[in-house]
Amino acid sequence: MVSTKVLSIFLSLFALASAQLQNSSAINYSVINLLNETHSMGVSIDNVTYPLVRSENVTILHTGQAPVATSGYRYVKITNENNNTEIEPFLRPPSQNDTVNEFFKRSWNHKQLSQLPAMFSPLPAIKRISSQLHRDGEVPTIHLTGNQTLIDIMHNSSGSEDIDVPTNMTYVSLNDTLSYEGVTLSLAGRSSRWMPKLSYNIKLSKKDRLYDYRRVKLRALDTDPSYIRESMAYDIIKSSGLVSSEFSYVRVFLNDREIGLFGLIDTFHNPWLANVFDDGNSKYKNGYLYQAVFSTANSSAVNHTSDLSYYDNITAYKDGQYEIKVEAAKGKKDNFKPLMDFTKFISTAPTNSSGAVAAWKKELDTDSFLRTMALEVLLGFSDGYNSMADNYYLYQIPKAGNFFYIPSDMDLTMGSTIFKLADMWSGNYSTFPGMGSRPLMSKILEVPEFKQQYEQLLVNMSRSLTNPAVLNKRIDDVVDMITEDVAWDQSLPRVGANLISQMGSALNNNNGSSSNTSLDSAATDVVGDVIPANFDMDTIKDFANRMNVSIPLSVAVNGDTGHASLSGVKEWFQKSSENTLNFFGAAGNSSDATNATAAATA
Ligand SMILES: *[C@@H]1O[C@H](CO)[C@@H](O)[C@H](O)[C@H]1NC(C)=O
Ligand SMILES: *[C@@H]1O[C@H](CO)[C@@H](O)[C@H](O)[C@H]1NC(C)=O
Ligand SMILES: *[C@@H]1O[C@H](CO)[C@@H](O)[C@H](O)[C@H]1NC(C)=O
Ligand SMILES: *[C@@H]1O[C@H](CO)[C@@H](O)[C@H](O)[C@H]1NC(C)=O
Ligand SMILES: *[C@@H]1O[C@H](CO)[C@@H](O)[C@H](O)[C@H]1NC(C)=O
Ligand SMILES: *[C@@H]1O[C@H](CO)[C@@H](O)[C@H](O)[C@H]1NC(C)=O
Ligand SMILES: *[C@@H]1O[C@H](CO)[C@@H](O)[C@H](O)[C@H]1NC(C)=O
Ligand SMILES: *[C@@H]1O[C@H](CO)[C@@H](O)[C@H](O)[C@H]1NC(C)=O
Ligand SMILES: *[C@@H]1O[C@H](CO)[C@@H](O)[C@H](O)[C@H]1NC(C)=O
Ligand SMILES: *[C@@H]1O[C@H](CO)[C@@H](O)[C@H](O)[C@H]1NC(C)=O
Ligand SMILES: *[C@@H]1O[C@H](CO)[C@@H](O)[C@H](O)[C@H]1NC(C)=O
Ligand SMILES: *[C@@H]1O[C@H](CO)[C@@H](O)[C@H](O)[C@H]1NC(C)=O
Repeated sequence: MVSTKVLSIFLSLFALASAQLQNSSAINYSVINLLNETHSMGVSIDNVTYPLVRSENVTILHTGQAPVATSGYRYVKITNENNNTEIEPFLRPPSQNDTVNEFFKRSWNHKQLSQLPAMFSPLPAIKRISSQLHRDGEVPTIHLTGNQTLIDIMHNSSGSEDIDVPTNMTYVSLNDTLSYEGVTLSLAGRSSRWMPKLSYNIKLSKKDRLYDYRRVKLRALDTDPSYIRESMAYDIIKSSGLVSSEFSYVRVFLNDREIGLFGLIDTFHNPWLANVFDDGNSKYKNGYLYQAVFSTANSSAVNHTSDLSYYDNITAYKDGQYEIKVEAAKGKKDNFKPLMDFTKFISTAPTNSSGAVAAWKKELDTDSFLRTMALEVLLGFSDGYNSMADNYYLYQIPKAGNFFYIPSDMDLTMGSTIFKLADMWSGNYSTFPGMGSRPLMSKILEVPEFKQQYEQLLVNMSRSLTNPAVLNKRIDDVVDMITEDVAWDQSLPRVGANLISQMGSALNNNNGSSSNTSLDSAATDVVGDVIPANFDMDTIKDFANRMNVSIPLSVAVNGDTGHASLSGVKEWFQKSSENTLNFFGAAGNSSDATNATAAATA
């Protein structure tokens, strides 16, 4: 944690500032800090403090001219009433030119992070725009302002009702300052609303874009004391030639409160499909995008989840387990026919005929599905298709007409789990929770060519991507980048209701069945009563209980955490890759694993 000394310095030296401004070697200093009228900012240069002024339209940015430093400079927070200062505990090296937008008490602006290798180039259907939304090695700041009463109401609405708060937003990165009016803020997620730190949706007004995107999510990262699971997962998805959201970190302020370190992801509303599948073409004619949401109260009443089962009744697709995230250009609002046809295909699909592979490819981008299914096992998706019939999208590619599989929601991965860890990282994918119980996965593995491809993917991706030798350097770099911000984040008071920890005690006291009916109904509102197979009550209890426990960053990254519901991130990759390669008899064999199937079935 950054410790800050509060020094009491009498700032009569301010008088020097105006003289120095005449000096042609003066440069602009800019620093971000959230202050009210009782405080202001300054910059201390070679022990002389110069005032900075609040920028006119961006209240979190404080700027001013001052000389180039000889030995170095520090920003100071000044209490106007008595001129007390809080000074940065480290010296910044002299800057010859205007500074970028720096952040008070962060000792770095930009980090060079090691990159993951591209294991596969993007699948042919993907044509992703290049955007500056996600800047590697940088943590921009987002400040949202709006009616605090409404924001409080939103924060206390832990049920599933949706409250939209109109806000204004400023976004400040090292070199850019962007301002938006008419921004809609709302809570994101379902069970994540029970957490003390909440996730948010941000929707810009219709014509506005934040680097090509209109909608983004602020991910609280609250169940992940390593703070890196989502970052790593989205990077690995990209390295696998797949598509999903991309991820970067941001610092978030809400009115006069510091809220913390968040993950920023682009979400699946237009213009996302055009950005990802047609280079941002504004005339793109997209197909349907269906979202799997596992289950709702309605769908669970009739035992329907988004597992891709076929129902001979189109109304049954509308029970709530699926949503139309984006309707096709010129398509009907409420059209589940393409999804129904696809599930019908699955239920009757050929498996052992010579035309089977071609028939499948006509309906599904099988590479998008099989690679994602390999990642479900190798990254340990505890809330994915196999484990929960949850958190994926099916996108109908317009011309080809087949479906492209898109994974989403990466928080419960890499050993942060509600299932038994031993089943997830055994290396034998048949023990993975839910394996064999989902129609699409079971059926596609009945096709010998796809089964072989799947097992080869497990071996090859494990060997070339999801293992410590490939990932640890990037993990170390990302952890180094966020360490100061994690300390800051953990020092902040939370705004959410923390229902989840109450669930933990309810589970402890009642041996699995909660007696707290308001908690029960909150849970039932969200997912209904469908309990997935392989649910492990001890792991779930541990998960709920650890929400109240503080786990140090380095322990969370490295392991062993001592929690049944949480491995270290590095520990996950070590176990998962070692066990996978051992299981397939491929350990130490660096050639292409074309014999994986033979080894597995031997
Ligand atoms: C704080 O410093 C400023 C600039 O030197 C000076 O004008 C002001 O009187 C000081 N205020 C107090 C309370 O000392
Ligand atoms: C202004 O901010 C300081 C901390 O920087 C805080 O202690 C104080 O209560 C705030 N005052 C108001 C009126 O919000
Ligand atoms: C700044 O002040 C510190 C502590 O008083 C002192 O050690 C240092 O030499 C000073 N630096 C300059 C450039 O005056
Ligand atoms: C601040 O915003 C107003 C209104 O949008 C604009 O006219 C003005 O130029 C802005 N000032 C700066 C310094 O950008
Ligand atoms: C201008 O600034 C430079 C660097 O800080 C310093 O060496 C020089 O003495 C200053 N000149 C005047 C006239 O203040
Ligand atoms: C400072 O700015 C000048 C002119 O914009 C540029 O030529 C020079 O490379 C910059 N120096 C540094 C250290 O960035
Ligand atoms: C803020 O929202 C509350 C609740 O809707 C409302 O009563 C109040 O008038 C609003 N305040 C302002 C300044 O608009
Ligand atoms: C956004 O900014 C505009 C212009 O300053 C202002 O009129 C409006 O009230 C602000 N909206 C919110 C929600 O603060
Ligand atoms: C910010 O701008 C500076 C100078 O214009 C440039 O050297 C630097 O690479 C930019 N940084 C980023 C992260 O874009
Ligand atoms: C609920 O649906 C699942 C999957 O379709 C099925 O295996 C199970 O038997 C059904 N349960 C009931 C009670 O109908
Ligand atoms: C079709 O599904 C709906 C929704 O699940 C259900 O209400 C209806 O009874 C079903 N119709 C038939 C004929 O099964
Ligand atoms: C695969 O197995 C065959 C027969 O067992 C063997 O000849 C071949 O070298 C193996 N290939 C690899 C890449 O291990």
